[in-house]
Amino acid sequence: MRILYVVGTRPNLVKTAPVIAALRARVPAGRHAIVHTGQHYDRLMSEIFLEQLGVPAPDHMLEVGSGSHAQQTARVMERLEPVLEEERPDLVMVPGDVNSTAAAALTAAKLQIPVAHIEAGLRSFDRTMPEELNRIVTDQLSAQLYIHSPEANDNLHAEGVPAERIHLVGNTMIDTLVALEPRFRAAGAAARLGVARGSFVLVTLHRPALVDGPLLAETIGRLAALARELPVVFPVHPRTRAMMESLDAEHPGLLLCEPLGYLDFLSLLADSAAVLTDSGGIQEETTYLGIPCFTLRANTERPITITAGTNTLLGLDPAAIDRIPSALAQRRPGKPDPPPLWDGQASQRIADIVAA
Ligand code: UD1
Repeated sequence: MRILYVVGTRPNLVKTAPVIAALRARVPAGRHAIVHTGQHYDRLMSEIFLEQLGVPAPDHMLEVGSGSHAQQTARVMERLEPVLEEERPDLVMVPGDVNSTAAAALTAAKLQIPVAHIEAGLRSFDRTMPEELNRIVTDQLSAQLYIHSPEANDNLHAEGVPAERIHLVGNTMIDTLVALEPRFRAAGAAARLGVARGSFVLVTLHRPALVDGPLLAETIGRLAALARELPVVFPVHPRTRAMMESLDAEHPGLLLCEPLGYLDFLSLLADSAAVLTDSGGIQEETTYLGIPCFTLRANTERPITITAGTNTLLGLDPAAIDRIPSALAQRRPGKPDPPPLWDGQASQRIADIVAA
């Protein structure tokens, strides 16, 4: 059996690493080829994740880099096609919803190579989000769709995806978190940044709807106000850093830092009082860890994180940041259970299906 895994961005690596490990163990005589598209390329956005997650060095680096959506997607397709012709895989595995995901799925499907999609079926029902278009395209082209929550099943049925293609396996991102838990619990990132455990708000923001327009300046102002009540730690994504530099905004009281490696990031997440984010994956990681999460978006493709009791959708409204201290004061103590099958075994279930 020949399997080819396509990764391109930081979250792709987190979702795919345990699947590669499970399938390498299950099918040791198979070919397991890793393609890195190079959509993310900075050391702190890519290499450090490969190292910390124990992903073997990619067999093919496409080095597509940054660009417009069409440029990035087209470059992945142009550069992946000859790799697929050389590798002749039986299955192409793609994770998540980034441009590399949709581009790889389309390239493989056109060569009649079956596509397997990790984290299928999520929908925000907001087609202004580039990721939503990537999800719809990838799911339509996939032969195997691995889902992590029941609503994904409903979404895929509504789009006419045959039931026999859909497999509820659990959450591979949580597999990685579970596997790394002893290491990130010992990492002590909060102490290195000089903040006390359980005392601070961790912030991540990178979506174009928030950071590429006028909302960013207002968000920074509201965060500075929040920092007068609670320390605010903010590892800054490159897209956001570029926009903040162009704004030349003041950010008094905010603890800004470079993007963090995964162990340090999870260490901070686990030790935070709350998280403010527009990320998808962080809504899931906080749900598993039982950390209150405030999502600065109009919608979420991960409603299970809201019903689980950890995630609050603030809307795409920086003024809502002001509500965080009172919302935290009113929270009931106790850690809700994570959703079923978010148990560290999702990749093993995928390996069972692929190797059957
Ligand atoms: C991409 C995904 C998004 C995902 C996010 C995770 C798409 C459409 N977007 O967004 O869904 O949540 O990754 O981080 O696929 N840059 C660097 N160094 C890097 C990578 C990017 O400096 O290693 C800068 C460049 O200026 C680039 C910008 O960040 O233009 C945006 O990068 P891009 O990959 O287009 O999108 P992300 O915002 O990272």
